Amino acid sequence: MDAALRTALIRAAETQGTPVYVYDKATIVTRCESLNAAITYPKKKLLYAMKANSNQAVVKTILGTGFGLDCVSLGEVQFGLKLGADRVLYTNNNVSDEEFNAVVKIGKETGKIWINCDSLQRLNDLPEGTACFVRINGPVGGGHHDHVITCGPESKFGVPWEHVPDVLKIVTERKLKLIGVHQHIGSGIREVEKFAEAMEVLLSVLRKNKLPDLEFVDFGGGIGVPYRPTEKPIDLKAFGAMLSTRFTQFCKDAGKELTLVLEPGRFPVAESGYLVAKANTIKETPYSKTFAGINTGFNHLVRPTMYGSYHHITNLSNPDGAQKPYYVAGNICESGDIFTRGDGDENSAASRTLPEIRRGDFLAIHNAGAYGYAMASEYNMRPRPAELLLDKGELIVARKAKSVEDVVREFMG
Ligand code: LLP
Repeated sequence: MDAALRTALIRAAETQGTPVYVYDKATIVTRCESLNAAITYPKKKLLYAMKANSNQAVVKTILGTGFGLDCVSLGEVQFGLKLGADRVLYTNNNVSDEEFNAVVKIGKETGKIWINCDSLQRLNDLPEGTACFVRINGPVGGGHHDHVITCGPESKFGVPWEHVPDVLKIVTERKLKLIGVHQHIGSGIREVEKFAEAMEVLLSVLRKNKLPDLEFVDFGGGIGVPYRPTEKPIDLKAFGAMLSTRFTQFCKDAGKELTLVLEPGRFPVAESGYLVAKANTIKETPYSKTFAGINTGFNHLVRPTMYGSYHHITNLSNPDGAQKPYYVAGNICESGDIFTRGDGDENSAASRTLPEIRRGDFLAIHNAGAYGYAMASEYNMRPRPAELLLDKGELIVARKAKSVEDVVREFMG
């Protein structure tokens, strides 16, 4: 970590208290711009899957680079439109009829929503004449953990690709305009080859089935980022070239210039974010384990506990301290609340060698920009932390922390 960032994170902790989320704006903008530059195919629309991080300042930053949004709920749709999104793809799964119909209505009123149908039933639900997308579940899935693989026979998402003829039947019967097809194979993928394989599935569906109203082909999100220091980022240039070359050829063969759509969530934001916490208890045990207890837990960052994910940790206060093995433990009343995971093969809790951690040291947990705060809860009745945007050395409060009193008041009803 460079000195300027370290200083800024310490300043965030000292001025705002801990735990605190900090997002570096320049990283977000760079990721958005570099992805855009890598896709040389000119007719494209990039959407941000805002479930990854729906902080207002973060979403506005991304919208400012020309992205639209991929939204999964009525709340995300309403919030995204309020923030000025020019385009929203509503990718829903098992939502209530009330929610689905409410978004269809907003779509009619604003003209900004693409409704992505996740089942034959949802296509049947659409009012006659509606323009829509359909989500396809093909045989190629991928991702960093079983929980995040969204294509293949185990997946609850989309219309099985074998059922595409039924889609066409419904589209004709209900006079729908099928303007888009969509596929999202999973999350945390850094192999270009995997994306190529999945792309081929969707293109093969389109080669087999003539869709006269088709304008948009959405290859989903899923672009992974390195979490471990040993991991390499995706070859973005090769990724963009692969998509662009194949899509250009496909459009040429089809005799129609279609729009290429992508909807990354993790990629634009993951590496921008840090969760900064304070060490409060150092516990040496007779079982050759030292626990460094910190004042946050899986209520604020659930990825290590939920997926066994590795998150790099920096001791901001003592970067040159003697190297020692630690289990970095959270303050939640569950034994699974250990942040040092993913170091071994099994993704189980493990000790990690870190510069000596002393009581009062600030630790930064890296790659907390995606699915960090967004998946946080008030488990154990602890409020979510504040979120700050780091913009050219300045720390801006992007969302205030709730107080314990606020939480207690809400529970009182
Ligand atoms: N599109 C759809 C339809 C999705 O379901 C998702 C993520 C995305 C796009 C964005 O995927 P991304 O580019 O972020 O990989 N909580 C997990 C990740 C869950 C992803 C859910 N869907 C984690 O922390 O790894």
